[in-house]
Amino acid sequence: MTLLRDRDLARAFDHASYTYDRLTALSPGYRTDLLRSARRLRLPRGGAGLHLLDLGCGTGASTRALLRAAPHARITAVDASSGMLRRARAKPWPAHVRFRHLTAEEVATAGKGPYDAVFAAYLLRNVTDPDGVLAAVRSLLRPGGRLAVHEYSLSGSAAHRALWTAVCRGVIVPAGTLGGNRALYHHLWRSVLDFDEAPDFADRLEDAGFTGVRAVPVAGWQTGIVHTFLARNGSATTAEGDR
Ligand SMILES: C[S@@+](CC[C@H](N)C(=O)[O-])C[C@H]1O[C@@H](n2cnc3c(N)ncnc32)[C@H](O)[C@@H]1O
Repeated sequence: MTLLRDRDLARAFDHASYTYDRLTALSPGYRTDLLRSARRLRLPRGGAGLHLLDLGCGTGASTRALLRAAPHARITAVDASSGMLRRARAKPWPAHVRFRHLTAEEVATAGKGPYDAVFAAYLLRNVTDPDGVLAAVRSLLRPGGRLAVHEYSLSGSAAHRALWTAVCRGVIVPAGTLGGNRALYHHLWRSVLDFDEAPDFADRLEDAGFTGVRAVPVAGWQTGIVHTFLARNGSATTAEGDR
């Protein structure tokens, strides 16, 4: 099976947007894990004075996590799928949270940065050119700015790979198929198998010029399947939280 990319993927998310929140609500730990990853950014002063970017915000679950981790920050949230964004915008948000219909690839040229931190949840595995997007993210971050990538990225253990396939075959793909989104949930399964394992993605971040790269597992059944990757753009000593 070829993976869904670019416009095909955005169309698949447009279609899945109707059931997305219901399905993720059934996924144990989905929102808690996003919040934990957002908090791992360790943004100072509740985010006061900071501008944050949620890249691939979907229906706003990651944006909500970012807002809870940094309630005083200005947040710009972007997504390639107009359907997912419509769902996000329909929710109640404070005025300092803004949504924009842009691809991750377009954000660098949209001229809205720089950002103090970028959160990318379940995005990087989906893009055609992850190195290009990571280079764009670095160009958008202030020196010392922080990055948290929350992503399905397997540990490298055969047991975690087998568990992922069992959960997809037994639960995720059948549930997605019931909602009329078989291709997207099949893509989810295969794209995780195809994507970098955690040590390789950490290397990819270092190759992109990020510093202080760490891969931290999430709790629960997704341990070894989902990781938070933390990194900075340049020296930690110049980061906002260290001033
Ligand atoms: C699995 S959803 C995750 C949404 C949200 N971050 C969350 O945690 O619930 C992935 C999102 O990434 C978006 N996406 C995929 N490729 C993208 C790209 N190249 N640029 C911007 N958004 C993209 C999709 O439209 C989708 O809404």
